[in-house]
Amino acid sequence: MQVTIAGGGMIVHDQILPSFYQLQRLGLVDQIAVCAQHGRTLATLAGSQSISHAFPGQKFRAYPDATRDPNLPHPDLYREVIAAMPPRNVVMIALPDHLHFDAILTALRADQHVLAVKPLVLKAAEAAAIEKEALQRGLFVGIEYHKRFDDRSLMARRKYRSGDFGEFRLGMAHLMEKWYYRHSNFQNWCTTENSDAFTYIGCHYVDLVHFITGLAPVSVSVYGIQEKYPNGNEGYLWTDARIIWSNGACLNVQNSLSFPDAAPGTNAQGLTLYCASGDKGGLLRHSDQYRGVEHVYTNNPPIYAEPSPDYFQYVYLGGGGLTPVGYGYRSIEYLYRCCLRIESASDRQQALREIDSEAIVATPANSRYNEQVIEAARKSIQSNGQQVSI
Ligand SMILES: NC(=O)c1ccc[n+]([C@@H]2O[C@H](COP(=O)([O-])OP(=O)(O)OC[C@H]3O[C@@H](n4cnc5c(N)ncnc54)[C@H](O)[C@@H]3O)[C@@H](O)[C@H]2O)c1
Repeated sequence: MQVTIAGGGMIVHDQILPSFYQLQRLGLVDQIAVCAQHGRTLATLAGSQSISHAFPGQKFRAYPDATRDPNLPHPDLYREVIAAMPPRNVVMIALPDHLHFDAILTALRADQHVLAVKPLVLKAAEAAAIEKEALQRGLFVGIEYHKRFDDRSLMARRKYRSGDFGEFRLGMAHLMEKWYYRHSNFQNWCTTENSDAFTYIGCHYVDLVHFITGLAPVSVSVYGIQEKYPNGNEGYLWTDARIIWSNGACLNVQNSLSFPDAAPGTNAQGLTLYCASGDKGGLLRHSDQYRGVEHVYTNNPPIYAEPSPDYFQYVYLGGGGLTPVGYGYRSIEYLYRCCLRIESASDRQQALREIDSEAIVATPANSRYNEQVIEAARKSIQSNGQQVSI
């Protein structure tokens, strides 16, 4: 199938485009197009040293193309690009959070399978509309919660579900992005009216706790601290969320754009769940940032780093270029293979329901709790952390 990626920002550069290039190299993906708002974004993407080093000779079709003014915005171009695709191919949505709903419906109505970065959408009713539209057309919609494809999550899920930990009672998760994010394109969209640190990144851990335990969230409260970005826009750059689950368990999730630029690694993140079974306590603790690797590079001044070998790395495995490895790549491959699976199924609706019930990948039908939590979180943060029921 051919793949059109809507959006050309950080996540497209770091994970999505190289993953599709690898699938193209393997002969699984046909041509790749990327549509961004500005030509300058695509010029940067096409000029990326790391990507061209890994995939020499591989190219994407750029919309807008290089003949147009690189600084002219084209906010509706993705509609034309998607409309021109032959039916039953793949659109990958990597736009800012608040644009997902419209873009996903546009793609479904053009008869395209849809893969979307998280969060799918910001309202549960929107997720329901997407689910309905996709099912009636026999199209797959998958949400890219790549932490699910980290083997430690899959191990935890198996062990939790076979009762090894007991039952989740209290937990904490955190994901702090680097301070420099404030200077990125985030300041143009991750602002108080559209999103917040929890909605943007905390949703990963809410999804993961459900993925591991099978529990459903029942209420949410999010306290946010507003601060100005360098361009003067306001954002909830620090958030503290409390999620109560269907068995009464409580998860605290802290998120921010605050991890010092001088600190090792690209962020700080982890999950701890305290569990109980009879008179014994169970524990699951993941350091999702420090993965046991320490490097010192002989720059001037030298740099101490704790790179994660697990999310997304390029390694040399022979042949030309480099091979992407890690759960970032595996997640995209799994999602894409779901589209292939639907296309080769004799009964597409049945195949869609099977993927929903296996619940390895998040779909609108099997992960509505994510949009419910986000919707409640947005209400809560705007009312100073009031508890909102789902
Ligand atoms: N860990 C994760 O799963 C993860 C990490 C980062 C981002 N994301 C998600 O990916 C999405 C994008 O994030 P990002 O970090 O790449 O942000 P970014 O700001 O770097 O990129 C956003 C891109 O969208 C493009 N865009 C905006 N409006 C557009 C329009 N109308 N038409 C075409 N392109 C348009 C911009 O040109 C830019 O290239 C967000 O939904 C974010 O939550 C997920």
